[in-house]
Parts: sequence; C-alpha cells; structure tokens
Amino acid sequence: MGKVNRCICSNITFQEIQTIAKDEGLTSVEQLQAHGICSCNCMLCAPFITRMLETSKTEFEPGEIQKPRSRHA
Ligand code: FES
Repeated sequence: MGKVNRCICSNITFQEIQTIAKDEGLTSVEQLQAHGICSCNCMLCAPFITRMLETSKTEFEPGEIQKPRSRHA
C-alpha cells in the first residue's frame, strides 16, 4: 500500500500544504479549509494534516493515525 502523503480531493501533497500553512500562518485544518487549500471534501486527510501540523511530518503509513499513541510518547 502506498503512503498517505496528500489530500486526494484537493490534489495537493502534505508537503505543499505544510509550505502554504507556514507561509500563511495557518495552524489548523479548519483554517486550511477556510482558505480552500485542502480538506474540503471527504475529510479523510484531516487527521493526517492535523498530525502534520503538530509534527511537521508529511508522509504517513495508512492507518498510522488510528493507532493508539504510545504511553511513553
Ligand atoms: S482527501 Fe482531503 S478532503 Fe478528501
């Protein structure tokens, strides 16, 4: 299975979203949505983008976000 690295509906990579978010000072999925950048349709990407904004990571394993967080994190 491929990596999760884009908002399919908006055809934009997480890397590109991250660059825009930094440039525009956007810090949440809701703000990115409001600017029409991503997460405007199925919202499957939203938890990944939230994690990206927290960690600067731009590529995830499918299902990675649903895994319980480590207790030692
Ligand atoms: S993949 Fe981002 S809204 Fe559908």
